[in-house]
Amino acid sequence: MEAPSQKNTADIYEAEYIKDLFNSMSVSYERMNYITSFGFSYRWRLQFLKKITIRQPGLQVLDLMTGMGETWIPVKDYLPGSKLTALDFCDGMIANAHKKNSKKFGNEVIVLKEDVLNNKLPDNSFDVVVCGFGLKTFNEEQLGRLAEQVKRILKPGGQFSFIEVSVPKNALLHFFYKSYLKHLIPVLGRLMLGNSHEYRMLWKYTSIFVNAEKAAKIFADVGLQARHEAYFYGCASGISGSKNSV
Ligand SMILES: C[S@@+](CC[C@H](N)C(=O)[O-])C[C@H]1O[C@@H](n2cnc3c(N)ncnc32)[C@H](O)[C@@H]1O
Repeated sequence: MEAPSQKNTADIYEAEYIKDLFNSMSVSYERMNYITSFGFSYRWRLQFLKKITIRQPGLQVLDLMTGMGETWIPVKDYLPGSKLTALDFCDGMIANAHKKNSKKFGNEVIVLKEDVLNNKLPDNSFDVVVCGFGLKTFNEEQLGRLAEQVKRILKPGGQFSFIEVSVPKNALLHFFYKSYLKHLIPVLGRLMLGNSHEYRMLWKYTSIFVNAEKAAKIFADVGLQARHEAYFYGCASGISGSKNSV
């Protein structure tokens, strides 16, 4: 694989490039994920799930860009009795998601290997769509296609919530958070993975993404009710909202 640093910005949004990136990271992603969220991985996820206000048992929930299922436990805790489907397009992540499914979830999660932008999920089939840290690797055009898919897949009245790592507006926090993501995380990545390229990309994507404000507008433009949310003083941000009832 060509080193990510040699790619120009347009190419870092290609599906094959992103699959390779997450395949390399799938070996260490769970540990790195814990470290990059300062050990608050569960709490960060619970925060964005709390934007979902429909909570009756039996909800059909879709976890997009599921990785190795990092959001599953918070989903099961916050939406007890829900039926969970998880989607990701990366072999390494999906292999780990299957392992987690059989070890900890009695294989009750439906795990799908698909590209969300070209998925075969039926129209109007989910009450809730959630996604942890899966927005930043989409460019604006792809975010538009993602928004169309969320709108298509959600049932009328269905709700969604996404969270993503972001660039805080406060100058001091910005300085420390950028140093952490841009310099320290790649060093930790090298120690765990023997290669810091993949984890250096975390800051590259985040610095282009900035925060979910633009994504919220893109989601609203396709006709979803969409709000921008800030979490943890802007170190994370998200979009939450719903599809209109008919
Ligand atoms: C940063 S990880 C997030 C994993 C997990 N949701 C979490 O909360 O930690 C992003 C995931 O999005 C997946 N992904 C990126 N683009 C995708 C696409 N177009 N279709 C499906 N999965 C995608 C990657 O394979 C990767 O596993």
